[in-house]
Amino acid sequence: MNLLEVRNLRVNYRSYWYTYHVLNDVSLQVSQGDKVGLIGESGSGKTTLLKSILQILPPQGRIVSGEVLWKGTDLLKVSKDYVTNVRRKEVGMIFQDPLGALNPVFKVKEQFLDILRHSHSDHDKSDHLSLAEELLRSVMLPDTARVLESYPFQLSGGMRQRVIIAMALASARDLLLADEPTTNLDVTIQDQILRLIGELVVKRGLSMILVSHALGMVAKMTHRVYVMYAGSIVEEAPTLKLFSEPLHPYTSMLIESAPRLASTRLGEGIKGNPPDYRYPPSGCRFHPRCPYATGICKEVRPPNVEVSKHRYVACHMYSEGAGGG
Ligand SMILES: Nc1ncnc2c1ncn2[C@@H]1O[C@H](COP(=O)(O)OP(=O)(O)OP(=O)(O)O)[C@@H](O)[C@H]1O
Ligand SMILES: [Mg+2]
Repeated sequence: MNLLEVRNLRVNYRSYWYTYHVLNDVSLQVSQGDKVGLIGESGSGKTTLLKSILQILPPQGRIVSGEVLWKGTDLLKVSKDYVTNVRRKEVGMIFQDPLGALNPVFKVKEQFLDILRHSHSDHDKSDHLSLAEELLRSVMLPDTARVLESYPFQLSGGMRQRVIIAMALASARDLLLADEPTTNLDVTIQDQILRLIGELVVKRGLSMILVSHALGMVAKMTHRVYVMYAGSIVEEAPTLKLFSEPLHPYTSMLIESAPRLASTRLGEGIKGNPPDYRYPPSGCRFHPRCPYATGICKEVRPPNVEVSKHRYVACHMYSEGAGGG
């Protein structure tokens, strides 16, 4: 059985005047022990998807339709308490915004104990401090006593990120959602931290969804990848296949625009802009930027077809032959 199964999720953001139609029928599965990558340009909806799973969207966000099955139970149909419990004990998230993750006015100790009070409510309170130390050691922080007595600003960026990871692990008994876990870190530390996350996930037997622009790291750390364009999953494939032989035109462009692994230059990005979510393009949302678009792409949304074993793509170039196999 899938640990997590998202089915046909639609999510909007509303402002006073407009509705932004962001997630467009997104489906995704994670089974036990699965390490899944989620990639796509900035603004494609990756964070929105992760936050929708945990129901922690900002107030403007609305889940319009779909299902979020967690161990078979639709989290969109159960009580708030049920979801809170999943968030505290079973699914941990490392947030993209590192400033929001730690409160500047409290010592690490207070914040960590507060998390453990909820995530490990079944443990004796007196165990929580040693649990915090154990988790901090697991993220390779030396001198855990000093870290616990520090305020966030007294730690380096890399140390803060390790604290954040340790806190996420406290709540991640089954699944870790890692949303750009190394943004704002020094390039030299980014690889270290990503590797650490990869090792911890394996050691603790966790499943993971990793969102990252570092495609080389996604390639190393995941066995399956979903590619998102403008709120739609356009391709899903085993990681190695996806990078060696991308099928969707968007995936090819995304991989080509990524900085080469050995180079320090930034990627050029893909020509054109992501769509205006107030008026998303009809048919395939990628059609205005696609060099291969034809009439049907403007009119009909391409179905998601399994083109070969475990390879899915939503593109009309692949859907014609799909019926006949
Ligand atoms: N609170 C909000 N109100 C209105 N629109 C929002 C809100 N939050 C996000 N959006 C819009 O939703 C779209 C998807 O945003 P999201 O943060 O999910 O993208 P992302 O793939 O995580 O991007 P990045 O790679 O930059 O983190 C963007 O166009 C963004 O502007
Ligand atoms: Mg994001």
